[in-house]
Amino acid sequence: METTLIILKPDAVQRGLIGRVVGRFEDKGLQVVGMKMMTISLDLAATHYADHQGKPFYAGLVAFMTDKPVVVMALRGKGAIAVCRKMMGATFGSQAEPGTIRGDFGLSNSFNLIHGSDSAEAAERELGLFFKTGEVIEYGRAIDQWVYDLSGGKAE
Ligand code: RTP
Ligand code: MG
Repeated sequence: METTLIILKPDAVQRGLIGRVVGRFEDKGLQVVGMKMMTISLDLAATHYADHQGKPFYAGLVAFMTDKPVVVMALRGKGAIAVCRKMMGATFGSQAEPGTIRGDFGLSNSFNLIHGSDSAEAAERELGLFFKTGEVIEYGRAIDQWVYDLSGGKAE
């Protein structure tokens, strides 16, 4: 089981897409284990996107991400990190495949609706940046016995 950090970016919130995007992840079987609305500070954006410092799109990216509220989520499930990245689609909305979130809801390359951790290391780091201790909640879900085959003692 993995937990990944998802951010519904300001364009997703402004466009009224919160429910539909969250619904896709719930439909897939992923479990919401953390969720809140917040406005990202300049400091937090700089830390989160430290790898992109110096790139031509960096200043615009930070301005975009800090301008209006976002919804941050911790999603848990089998292979959650890669599953969410696939569901998000390619980085640029103009190139993302239909059936993906970016492919179905956006055309812009900069305003691309959603962020998802891209590795286990990134997920651990990013969950720590956006959620305090106790804000990610481990809880049992009745539907897990149908989302997964648990007969062998682990989720298959
Ligand atoms: P993210 O980190 O937001 O999940 O997106 P990603 O891995 O698919 O893309 P990444 O290469 O990490 O880029 C981070 C974000 O920067 C913006 N961007 N704009 N205009 C541009 O050329 C450009 N390139 C990147 C996007 O918002 C992208 O999600
Ligand atoms: Mg990235």
